[in-house]
Amino acid sequence: MNDFPVDQVDSVVTPWNVSGVVDYDKLIEQFGSQKIDPQLLKKFESLTGRPLHPFLRRGIFFSHRDLQEILQLYENGTKFYLYTGRGPSSDALHLGHMIPFLFTQYLQEAFQVPCVIQLTDDEKFLFSKDNSKKLEDYQRLGWENAKDILAVGLDCERTFIFRDTDYIGTMYPNILKIQKAVTYNQARAIFGFDDSDNIGKHGFPAVQAAPSFSSSFPQLFGPQNNLPCLIPCAIDQDPYFRMTRDVAPKLGYRKPALIHSKFFPALQGENTKMSASMAHTAIYVSDSAKQLKTKVNKYAFSGGGATIEEHKKYGGNCDIDVAYKYLSFFLEDDEQLEKIRQEYSSGKMLTGEIKAKLIQVLQPFLEQHQQRRSQVTDEMIRKVMTPRKLSF
Ligand code: TYM
Ligand code: TRP
Repeated sequence: MNDFPVDQVDSVVTPWNVSGVVDYDKLIEQFGSQKIDPQLLKKFESLTGRPLHPFLRRGIFFSHRDLQEILQLYENGTKFYLYTGRGPSSDALHLGHMIPFLFTQYLQEAFQVPCVIQLTDDEKFLFSKDNSKKLEDYQRLGWENAKDILAVGLDCERTFIFRDTDYIGTMYPNILKIQKAVTYNQARAIFGFDDSDNIGKHGFPAVQAAPSFSSSFPQLFGPQNNLPCLIPCAIDQDPYFRMTRDVAPKLGYRKPALIHSKFFPALQGENTKMSASMAHTAIYVSDSAKQLKTKVNKYAFSGGGATIEEHKKYGGNCDIDVAYKYLSFFLEDDEQLEKIRQEYSSGKMLTGEIKAKLIQVLQPFLEQHQQRRSQVTDEMIRKVMTPRKLSF
């Protein structure tokens, strides 16, 4: 498959691959999305009546499409629904995967809206180069991943999680309409498919697009079939939704709105996306305290000086330091974070110390997650995967 977009020499951002130095401002320009500005943040605060989520305060969710419109509708009394997803490729989620789900949970609670979560077991089956895994394996991973997703604290009364292989039938009319509206050439230009890619891949984008339209969920939303949709995801998923927004008017549907996050980097450094395909690059939500400690100490890329003397003299570089970067996602206290930034940049705080701080922040996060996940039963998953009327 071609790397896309081809005109960007220094970095590549696609649903399959993120590499190179990602310039997020440039990405906004290239993808044609909008920057989240202070005015929009104010609107968020006033509508929800609560302080901004750290991911918003810190520009981690940084880009959007039609967010203004969604908030305006909400203000005028029209509720939206949230749609996000996960391609079940590993037994546990890693911290990068958690970002959109943690944020989705916050949005659901702050706006009191329903949420649908697509598990693309079909996608992972079609796109995987690993032929030792069967379709049934991806279905099982989808079921397991639903437990991690539910454990972020989603409201069961307002949440529907589905595996494509179970739910595809109800969405099929919309999938067909989308497939008819997108040509082979368009799909290839957007996703970089080539002649040797299987035909399932070419058809799949319509499956990821369909949940953006509320008429794909008749049992959930009843006769209200043109509800506004908001999609939280990392920016790598945007190509799917550019296609979706392009076809929406042709089908007489609303375009879904989006809110995009930056990437949570791999342990090896800022210019990578944490990826499930290489275990030592990622911290999994199933990692033990000991594994966490080893991974951070052994692999987390350091922006510190080469020796203690140098570090004390020149200070550490927070722009490239992975421990600092992770703290900026997971340490909620702004003052503490700022203090760490100052002390580390000035050389007062050492690399070992900033890593120890990170371990101290992540360890209870993982512990709490594992505790909550252990309470999610198969019965709960069955329930949340049953199509039923969602509370508004
Ligand atoms: P998947 O399983 O690759 O990723 C799930 C979600 O996590 C985001 N993500 C990250 N966010 C921050 N830092 C990272 N290092 C990182 N890695 C992954 C992804 O952007 C995604 O939001 N095709 C999708 C599944 C899907 C979906 C959706 C995603 C189906 N429908 C609607 C978002 C919205 C996939 O394979 O995601
Ligand atoms: N990168 C995955 C693989 O080849 C496939 C994949 C991830 C993917 N995200 C996707 C395919 C989104 C299509 C759409 O292992």
